[in-house]
Amino acid sequence: MSFQTQNKVELHLHHEGAAPPDFIRALAKEKSISLEGIFDENGAYSYKDFWDFLKVYEAATECLKTPRDYARLTTAVLENCAQHGVIYAESFISPDFCGGGDPVAWGEYLHAIQEAADKAEKDHGIVLRGIVTAVRHFGADKAKQTSLCAAQTAGDWIVGFGMGGDEKFGTPGDFAYAFDQARESGLRLTSHAGEWSGPEEVRATIRDLKAERIGHGVRAIEDADLIREIIDRDVVLEVCPGSNYALGVYPEWSAHPIQRLRDAGVKVTVSTDDPPFFHTTMTHEYEMLAKTFGWDEDVFKEVNIVAANAAFCDDETRARILKKLEA
Ligand code: ADE
Ligand code: ZN
Repeated sequence: MSFQTQNKVELHLHHEGAAPPDFIRALAKEKSISLEGIFDENGAYSYKDFWDFLKVYEAATECLKTPRDYARLTTAVLENCAQHGVIYAESFISPDFCGGGDPVAWGEYLHAIQEAADKAEKDHGIVLRGIVTAVRHFGADKAKQTSLCAAQTAGDWIVGFGMGGDEKFGTPGDFAYAFDQARESGLRLTSHAGEWSGPEEVRATIRDLKAERIGHGVRAIEDADLIREIIDRDVVLEVCPGSNYALGVYPEWSAHPIQRLRDAGVKVTVSTDDPPFFHTTMTHEYEMLAKTFGWDEDVFKEVNIVAANAAFCDDETRARILKKLEA
């Protein structure tokens, strides 16, 4: 069967990380920005390892300089997502990249993104919600500024606060103020953990940041007590197997723990993370999960219902999404 048309929910998608290379090249040309060294000979994004990936990501993001650029990006990203059957997505957007942390500029970027998302919903039926995201290696002070922007724009559309970036930078506790501030404004919480660092990082992220979802979290599989804690606390993992494979967290798809996590009773969801960077799409993720672990339409339906229930949107939106998944 083709998995492309199956309705899907994607909870872990970086807005800039979803930018097609051609889109970034066109912007660079318009703005006379040199992007030497970030593409390979085939025009795909090129990086040596995770830390180099973060540098390439930030270099590509340099081309996104105005609210209009983000509106165009949003249109391109949502067209791609919809083409792969995604009916609901949450994307990570950062005031750091959208206006440099200035709250007024952030409001303008956000307005442009939302307008483009509304149009994509009318054109393609895809619903987008935003998770304001701190970049961990930019430090705790920046994260506080980011969460203040998040708190000021929390509502029906900005539904969550999160953190990505270099997991080896500082400790989760360093970012507790930012996460507390976001939570107090009504935002739901997620953070990357257990992608590069081990189970302790996931444990500290749940304990110190009160994260309800974990970005990746796959290395929790190395600690049976942590698995029990994740289940007891009803924490949901935003698993991105193609990303983990492309970045070398696991050498083969067959070594990926998603099946073992599911078998242990952990709530797992499936996302692409930064699809063009990792040569993936939601369709490709599903095809590889089917091929590697024998997942069929029923398993995917179950995983999508878990994702819809773990989405940070309001209950009316959730009900609409669940209805489409059940159809
Ligand atoms: N930012 C974009 N993609 C990321 C990833 N896979 N891990 C951490 N930070 C990121
Ligand atoms: Zn991510």
